[in-house]
Amino acid sequence: MTKNMYRTHDCNSLRKADIGRQVSLAGWVNVTRDHGGVIFIDLRDREGLTQVVFRPEENAELAKEAHTLGYEDVIQVSGRAAARPPGTENPNLATGDIEVIPSELRILNRADPLPFPLDTEPQNEDLRMTHRYLDLRRPRLARNLRIRHRAAKATRDYLDSQGFVEVETPILSKSTPEGARDFLVPSRIAPGKFYALPQAPQQYKQLLMVAGVEKYFQIAKCFRDEDLRADRQPEFTQIDIEASFVMPEEIFSVTEGMLAAIFKAALNIDIKTPFDRLTYRDAVNRFGSDKPDRRFGMELVDLGEIFRESGFKIFRGALDAGGVVKAINANGFAGITIGQADELTEIAKLHGAKGLAFIKIENGEWKSPIVKFFSDAEKAALRSKLNIEEGDCLFFGADKWEIACEVLGRLRLRIAEMQDLLGRARSPSAPDWDFLWVTDFPLFEWSAEENKWNAMHHPFTRPKTEDMPLFESKKFPEVRAEAYDVVLNGVEIGGGSMRIYEPELQEKMFEALGISPEARQSQFGHLLRALRLGAPPHGGIAFGFDRVVMLICGEQSIRDVMAFPKNNRSMDLMTKSPAEVDPKQLRDLGIKPAKDKKL
Ligand code: AMO
Ligand code: AMP
Repeated sequence: MTKNMYRTHDCNSLRKADIGRQVSLAGWVNVTRDHGGVIFIDLRDREGLTQVVFRPEENAELAKEAHTLGYEDVIQVSGRAAARPPGTENPNLATGDIEVIPSELRILNRADPLPFPLDTEPQNEDLRMTHRYLDLRRPRLARNLRIRHRAAKATRDYLDSQGFVEVETPILSKSTPEGARDFLVPSRIAPGKFYALPQAPQQYKQLLMVAGVEKYFQIAKCFRDEDLRADRQPEFTQIDIEASFVMPEEIFSVTEGMLAAIFKAALNIDIKTPFDRLTYRDAVNRFGSDKPDRRFGMELVDLGEIFRESGFKIFRGALDAGGVVKAINANGFAGITIGQADELTEIAKLHGAKGLAFIKIENGEWKSPIVKFFSDAEKAALRSKLNIEEGDCLFFGADKWEIACEVLGRLRLRIAEMQDLLGRARSPSAPDWDFLWVTDFPLFEWSAEENKWNAMHHPFTRPKTEDMPLFESKKFPEVRAEAYDVVLNGVEIGGGSMRIYEPELQEKMFEALGISPEARQSQFGHLLRALRLGAPPHGGIAFGFDRVVMLICGEQSIRDVMAFPKNNRSMDLMTKSPAEVDPKQLRDLGIKPAKDKKL
């Protein structure tokens, strides 16, 4: 290797044993301190910090020049590694025993005054995003990028060891319905026609199974034009997996092994496998969510038996109409404030409840306007079913099963936040990393907006074999899919399914989804054709790689584990994208912006 003219060592490598050596370091000026003319600099590179000391008595010229250095200037120093004077060692720093006494200083580049300091958590997200390259110099984000790299490498190594082959699939592709809006790219060669950016490589990976690849994976970019949240970006990354001639069990075990390898590589911890499993029905029934956070209790309890003959009209009415009465018991939440009660009522209404009944258990009394409607027998039954104790607060949902579960599930999560159940009082027996399979999802979900059945996962997902008769007889709400999700600490980190490989069944599925024969041909003709040319049984899964890394890094948002994320308005503030383009580019594409048409 040719000699590096910038440095002999990185900023985290000099130790006592190096004292007396001639060294060169390069990096950023992290901190400067002026102690009566002596300039102390913490020089930083990606590995760490080294103290550099300019003493006027050793080299007055150099000390004078060092005096001009400012934060984040990029410099190179050459000199002698020396012992720090006794008593000034810093045991918190790997290089804390030594300092560098330079005989040479090269200022490689000056930095303007910084838009925000790098040593505290900047509050202004727009400013951070505009100068993302500065933001990424902060240790937390720099660490996240490296953890992400470790996780990606572990993924590739593990899947390779299991015989999976990484195959890239096109970014300029054709629309695949995954439930979001497509990003479109106009074609210049074929004016008026568009590519779609892939929402996922779903159809390509199925076609790779028809191609005989048998075990495919890809760390793949996906694009979805949807409303953004902390765990959603318009452009994100999946670990995408597909295999032929497999049963769901094999998908489960290979991906459990993959996640174990990722957690070992990134955090050096051994996660517990195999993961627990819950059916969709049980997950929603007990936790009010298809991605339950099981790190705290407060499970939904069914009270149908207690109130079937009740004199309380709201509960009785819900049951008579074929609905349910369910409740959660928030232990120790009787001190709920009026503000909190209002917020919870708002949440309940937002998710379809007509109201929110709750009871506080204070000083041995049940405090709520609804208690007067309960008989003594009903109260006794409630007491035992909900394990009611002094200081508890009970919340009730009386509605259709779906609404009551959803409402109580949302309340459960918000109350856990209000009570800080995950920060402070986490049950000692609850695992830190709660992985869970949710299985047996419904195949369809009703869209009231479109007045039709949609695929809950996607249109290529198989009905469960046992439920084929229900599918054939069009009992759509009852048909379960051979589909599964992986949930980690209440976050959906992955989802997949066994696929339809029979062309006739795929046609029937499209028909059930109200896709006309013409639309089937124009949108999915290639897939239907491929299914007729020797398609093996196959299935797979995709993980939200950003979400997995977010949880590993202990972050609240996937933005903090992406180098250059979009903000919550889907904009890249650094490059100011999306942006206007040269009118000539539009002319080439045959596109006229709507505003030119004076709409
Ligand atoms: P699905 O749509 O469930 O399945 O996506 C798989 C996983 O990707 C993550 N994810 C996202 N992460 C960040 N930002 C987003 N906007 C976003 N959307 C989804 C989630 C999710 O679990 N082709 C199927 C998989 C299959 O059937 O094999 C698919 O894409 O963690
Ligand atoms: P009301 O008799 O309308 O004053 O309602 C009594 C209590 O029941 C109020 O706290 C309402 O918010 C609540 N409530 C009304 N409908 C429901 C429902 N479907 N589920 C749970 N609580 C409800």
